[in-house]
Amino acid sequence: MPVPPCPTLVASVLPADFACLGAGVRDLERAGVDRIQSDVMDGHFVPNLTFGPDVIGATRGLVGLGFEAHLMVTEPDPMLPRWVEAGCELLIVHAEAVTHLHRTLSRIRELGVRAGVALNPATPLTAVEHVLDLVDLLLVMTVNPGFGGQRYLAGMATKIAAARAAIDGRGLDIELEVDGGIGPATIGAAARAGATAFCAGSALFEGPGSMADRVAALRTAALGAVAA
Ligand code: DX5
Repeated sequence: MPVPPCPTLVASVLPADFACLGAGVRDLERAGVDRIQSDVMDGHFVPNLTFGPDVIGATRGLVGLGFEAHLMVTEPDPMLPRWVEAGCELLIVHAEAVTHLHRTLSRIRELGVRAGVALNPATPLTAVEHVLDLVDLLLVMTVNPGFGGQRYLAGMATKIAAARAAIDGRGLDIELEVDGGIGPATIGAAARAGATAFCAGSALFEGPGSMADRVAALRTAALGAVAA
């Protein structure tokens, strides 16, 4: 599946009404987002528990958007094929949750999908400098993972900028995504720091106007920030 244009707006379905997740995913597609993120939490790597591949698979056929699985799980390797079978074209693992990151990222690509690696706020960029050639996406968390509706950590701007410089400096074709607290008031700072993909949850499901208005407002704020 081709990489959506920048800014890439990714919708987290964590704030969706789980009783009608399918309708929520359809609403997001109609509202104009570029990709759907499923926040997979195991109650161990993060203090929260969400859903498995069968839930994601149940919504796969309802929309044409790409699916990314943000795997906030310890040792994700045994279940990697399950997320691919569920229809995810991008699997994102956490550098802190994997013992053999080089092997895990290589395995994801062997499964024929795109590989992503995520960094918690406290984790330095150096944790992934030796595997950047194995990834299609680098995710800089702008909150501590586990819950939606948290405040954006402005201090992550320096890590986003350093990631941007590392990617450009090595001429790599990697999406630079941010996730957590992304909204109309914060997306500009992340875009200016060099992010190209923006995952938002509560800012899409709550706020003024329709969901489509909120998507357009985020896109305009991101574009405006880098054009300025
Ligand atoms: C948090 C998740 C995020 C979260 C984003 O661990 O990874 O995707 O759902 O939600 P907001 O945009 O509300 O911070």
